[in-house]
Amino acid sequence: MSYRIYIAIFLFSSYLSFTLWVYTYGTSGDPEKLIMSKEAYQGKLLYQQMNCASCHQIFGLGGYLGPELTSIMSDKGKNLNYVASFLKYGSKQMPAFDLDSLQVKELVAYLSYVDAASGEGVQVEGLN
Ligand code: HEC
Repeated sequence: MSYRIYIAIFLFSSYLSFTLWVYTYGTSGDPEKLIMSKEAYQGKLLYQQMNCASCHQIFGLGGYLGPELTSIMSDKGKNLNYVASFLKYGSKQMPAFDLDSLQVKELVAYLSYVDAASGEGVQVEGLN
């Protein structure tokens, strides 16, 4: 009957060492740091000042008149020129914001940052 105690000891020590591993090395991976550039930060401020969020969502938050912008920079069939032209000229439904080219660059930098942060562009081996 005493073999049960060995099994219990084995299981408990496995549990202990796994827990120790998780709390020490298991989570110490070095994820690539995503640093927001100054340009992107200026873009974030513009996004707030011009109230883009009244019509657009980022990570699902915002108004619903315009489309979600979280992954706009990596969406298929859309590119920098596409986004820049909305920002400069607007469209039938989106007002033109009379932005200068620096402001357009900053907003694009912000949207690219958001896109990268969303992880939408991550490729999974065998799935993409
Ligand atoms: C009054 C509402 C409104 C505001 C404010 C607004 N937009 Fe838009 N936006 C729209 C609408 C509606 C569309 C879709 C228009 C279309 O497809 O013709 C759009 C389209 C876009 C697109 C293209 C999206 C796509 O998937 O095709 C981008 C990029 C964009 N807006 C960025 C911005 C940014 C950045 C701001 C702030 C400077 C902003 N918008 C402010 C209403 C707005």
